[in-house]
Amino acid sequence: MDIKILLVGCGNVGKSFIKLLSNIDSGNTFNIGFVGIVDKKLGSFISSKPISPKEISRFFSNEYTFEEFKPDSGTILRDLTLDSILEEVDFNVMIEATSTNYENGEPSITYVKKAFSRSAHVITANKGPVGFAYNLLKDMARENGVSFRFEATVMSGTPLFSFVRNNLKGIKINRIRGVLNGTSNFIFSKMEDEGLEFENALKLAMEKGYTEKDFNVDIKGIDAKLKTVILANVLMGGWLKISDLPDVDLNGILLEKVKRGLEEGKKYKLISEIRREGDSIVGDLYLELVGSEDPLYSVNLNYNKVVLYTDILGKVSLAGPGSGPDETAYGLFLDLYELIKELGYNK
Ligand SMILES: NC(=O)c1ccc[n+]([C@@H]2O[C@H](COP(=O)([O-])OP(=O)(O)OC[C@H]3O[C@@H](n4cnc5c(N)ncnc54)[C@H](OP(=O)(O)O)[C@@H]3O)[C@@H](O)[C@H]2O)c1
Repeated sequence: MDIKILLVGCGNVGKSFIKLLSNIDSGNTFNIGFVGIVDKKLGSFISSKPISPKEISRFFSNEYTFEEFKPDSGTILRDLTLDSILEEVDFNVMIEATSTNYENGEPSITYVKKAFSRSAHVITANKGPVGFAYNLLKDMARENGVSFRFEATVMSGTPLFSFVRNNLKGIKINRIRGVLNGTSNFIFSKMEDEGLEFENALKLAMEKGYTEKDFNVDIKGIDAKLKTVILANVLMGGWLKISDLPDVDLNGILLEKVKRGLEEGKKYKLISEIRREGDSIVGDLYLELVGSEDPLYSVNLNYNKVVLYTDILGKVSLAGPGSGPDETAYGLFLDLYELIKELGYNK
């Protein structure tokens, strides 16, 4: 069995994913190779033969673009449009790691649809397709007999969806409360622990690579809104839209207010909440000063935590890293691993 990957988007996460795969020994059970990589910045290529992750990974130890990439064997074609690649290349798994479009999820939604129509499975780290079109894409995947996976979109490599799918069988989630945006949490932690002003804590988050390209996506709660929508629709069967959630702006958080909170034994958290109201699933996003009795009080720095309120087990929590290229690449890897198992390979 050959897993023939088309990687769309090869930035920090895409490169980490190739590196992670290059260190995995799959024995002789299945071969994983790349039949094409498409990236706005690096350029694109397709190959007549699958190229091993090790070979591509070696290439990334140098700062080249794909113009200079030559595999040991097989024919390489460059300068193709993504449309022609999606139509012509023989791939069975698309790994999608392009930048998230927070307005409407495009063009990734179109890429995912095209992959489904070619009977390819899709694994994405991009919140766009899941946040803007989950219910549609889930149905399309089922109709085409393929898998649609997106572990890395919320809590990066902390395996929330896999945890629920594999370990909470038959359980109904009635409410979710969580800290889903690592950047805002990192900023609050730095203000609380080191007395930094908001602007300086934000600068530090940017230096560490925690913020999105446009940091407003983090501090205006847009990233957290999209993640709230994803959890509502995937884990609770909702039809929530990003416009259903209220606007927040963390810019107004003054160090003085943070210190006053600490004197009362409380910390600021940007909280996503989803609950059942009758037959509806409703979502909320709000800034709250929480005390030590709150399960979200202990989430520090760029960590995330989700508390699931379930019918049988009561409160079940999962915490872990919410960002980082290697962590996110692990989310993609876990999806690929589960997909390979689902296809019948016992690795
Ligand atoms: N990094 C994290 O911690 C993290 C965590 C969870 C989820 N994610 C998600 O994972 C995805 C990748 O993140 P990243 O950190 O790797 O971002 P990144 O470093 O900016 O990489 C994205 C790459 O995709 C390219 N690209 C953008 N639009 C494209 C298109 N239409 N077709 C082909 N290539 C395209 C970009 O090129 P240009 O730069 O030239 O546009 C860039 O090289 C994003 O959706 C992000 O939200 C990231």
